[in-house]
Amino acid sequence: MRREGEILGSKSDLMEKILNLKREKKAVILAHNYQRPEVQDIADFVGDSLELSLCAAQTDAKIIVFCGVNFMAETAAILNPDKRVLIPDINALCPMASMLPADLVRLYRRKYPRAKIVLYINSLAEAKAYCDAVCTSANAAEVVNRVDSEIVLFGPDANLASYAQIKSSKKIIPIPQYGFCPVHKLFNRDDTMRLKKIYPDAEVMAHPECDPEIWRIADFVGSTSRMYREAMVSKASKFIVATEIGLLHRLRKDRKDAVFIPAYEEAMCVNMRLHTLEKVYLCLRDEKYEVRLPQKIASRAREPIEFMLKTRETQR
Ligand code: 13P
Ligand code: SF4
Repeated sequence: MRREGEILGSKSDLMEKILNLKREKKAVILAHNYQRPEVQDIADFVGDSLELSLCAAQTDAKIIVFCGVNFMAETAAILNPDKRVLIPDINALCPMASMLPADLVRLYRRKYPRAKIVLYINSLAEAKAYCDAVCTSANAAEVVNRVDSEIVLFGPDANLASYAQIKSSKKIIPIPQYGFCPVHKLFNRDDTMRLKKIYPDAEVMAHPECDPEIWRIADFVGSTSRMYREAMVSKASKFIVATEIGLLHRLRKDRKDAVFIPAYEEAMCVNMRLHTLEKVYLCLRDEKYEVRLPQKIASRAREPIEFMLKTRETQR
């Protein structure tokens, strides 16, 4: 915790202190694509939920500092019971994850005893403990197609459920019926169409958490890192981007010749942005806040996460 009256230093001082502490403590900093630019710049790895899970499963660092929302840090802790997983701000919660409490998953299990349950990684650990497989926005349809049932209950994101439905012949039932991401709800078709008229040669990229009316008019739909990779190889030099604006930092940094236009400038996930450089420094210095889960929940949630990590699409 910050000591009273303590001045932590300028941005460059903080960056240097973070790098020193990281080396000293054999720590690794993982940051989601939505993190503040300065946090992305100090990280060892920046990526989407799937890449960060793979990174967490493979790292040999003693300490993992997770700059993302808590379900991501919890996933890292579940995969690394012998490591210390720290999160700079414990209030970084995903409101969508809270839309599907564990009791509701159990209720649906009783209602559809023959169906399999696939949960988006944006869910609570205690909910994951009652599901059959976990997925991310990069592999939702592949995981749905791999579970051993023709009826699949999928939650909490109803839009991702609809997107997976396009690529699967199975019957997908969203649980709850209207789970959503408040940030991706901010995009609307009229605004995006207006931008398309202003920039007729721009490629439109959208996250599947957006409403279907957005991804139906997009040229490319995918997870944040898939959008990043698309922008790196696309011939287009203008892109309209329908996701949280944090991704624009990475895109602009690595494709300096291109123009990236946010589909909605205020699409900002306040939870993701709780992690600041100061908090990352304090997190490493004081080894706070440690992400711990009850043993029973961690061991039950591990299996469905490992199911996802073994999915072929994930192994790319
Ligand atoms: P990714 O799967 O692209 O990491 O997206 C996670 C997320 O929280 C989107 O809102
Ligand atoms: Fe959750 Fe949406 Fe924030 Fe992603 S952008 S962490 S889904 S609230």
